[in-house]
Amino acid sequence: MHIVQNQPVVIAIGNQKGGVGKTTTAVNLSAALGIRGHRVLLIDLDPAAGTTRHLGIDGVEFEGTLELLCGESQLEPLAITDGMPAGVSLIPARHDLTTLSTKTPRFVDHAALLRPVIQQAQRYDFVILDTSPHPADITTLAAYGGADWFLLTALPHYLSLAGLTEACRDINEVRRHRNPNLEVLGVLLCSVDERATRALAEIRSLVDSALPGQFFSTRISQATAVQRCVADGCSLLCHTQHRRHPVARQFLRLAVEVERRVQHRDIFLDYCRSWSGGGGETAGFLEYLGSSIPPDLTLARLAEAR
Ligand SMILES: Nc1ncnc2c1ncn2[C@@H]1O[C@H](COP(=O)(O)OP(=O)(O)OP(=O)(O)O)[C@@H](O)[C@H]1O
Ligand SMILES: [Mg+2]
Repeated sequence: MHIVQNQPVVIAIGNQKGGVGKTTTAVNLSAALGIRGHRVLLIDLDPAAGTTRHLGIDGVEFEGTLELLCGESQLEPLAITDGMPAGVSLIPARHDLTTLSTKTPRFVDHAALLRPVIQQAQRYDFVILDTSPHPADITTLAAYGGADWFLLTALPHYLSLAGLTEACRDINEVRRHRNPNLEVLGVLLCSVDERATRALAEIRSLVDSALPGQFFSTRISQATAVQRCVADGCSLLCHTQHRRHPVARQFLRLAVEVERRVQHRDIFLDYCRSWSGGGGETAGFLEYLGSSIPPDLTLARLAEAR
C-alpha cells in the first residue's frame, strides 16, 4: 500500500526537549501503521537508543544505525523483524552512535546522510525516524535533511513548548538551506492528564497561534500502561494485556490522521495556511476533508488482527 508512488513517506518525530513522548510515539505510531497494512521501517537515530530498548532489543548485540549511516552496511541485512510489531522493521541503535562523526569523512554533508538509506527503502510505505532531543547531534541533522515531514510531540506544559519553538525555527532554517520539501506534519500532545482542562486550553491556544491548523485531533492520554509496555519491551498495540487500552486506540486514530495528511499533502498545507481557528475542540483536518476516523469497534478489531 504505497501512499506515494514507489517512495516511502519519511516522518521524523521530534522536539528539542527530552522526555516529551518522541520515542513512545515513534514506536506506537509505527505499530499502528503496521496494523493498518503499511510496511514501516523504524530507524532509531538516538544514541540513547530509546526505541531499540522499548522494542525489547539489546542494542549492544546488533549492528544498526551506526553501520547504516557510515555506509558499512546496506539497509536490509540490518533490519530486525523478529519480535517486532506486524509490518514493522527496526534499525536499532547503540550508545556508540555518538562516534558517527569520527567514522564519517570529515567534510561529509551530515544533512545528506540519510538519503542513500531512503533510496534503499523503496519497499516500505513509511520510514519513521526517532530523533534525539539534541539539535547538534549528527543524527538529528540527518533527520532534518532526510525527512519529508516532522511530527512534533509536546507535553501540555510550557517547557515542552520551548523545545517545540526551537524545533520549528530549525525546520524553517533547514527548509531554506537544505531540504525545501520538509513540512510540519502536526503537533501531538502526549501524556495528557485529561483533568487539567485549563492548562490544555492554554497550550492549545499557544500552539494554534504559532502553528495554525497543525494540532492532531487525537491526543495521547497519560497512562501507566504506556510505561508498563516499555518495561515489557513491546509496543502498547502488541501487548497482550494492553492492546485494547484506550491509549492504543488513540495511536490507531493518530495513524489514520497521519495517513490522511500525507495522502492529501497539498490540501493539508493549504488548510494550514488558511486556518483561522474555531470549529470546536476536536474539529480538524479530517472533518475539513469530510473524512472520519473509523469507529472504535473497527479500531479495536484492527488491534486484534495482528
Ligand atoms: N502517554 C503516556 N503515559 C504515561 N507515560 C508516558 C506516556 N508517554 C510517554 N510516557 C513516559 O514518559 C517518559 C518519556 O517518554 P519518551 O521516552 O517517549 O520521551 P522522549 O521524548 O523520547 O524522551 P528523550 O528525549 O529522552 O528520548 C517515558 O518514561 C515514557 O514511558
Ligand atoms: Mg526518546
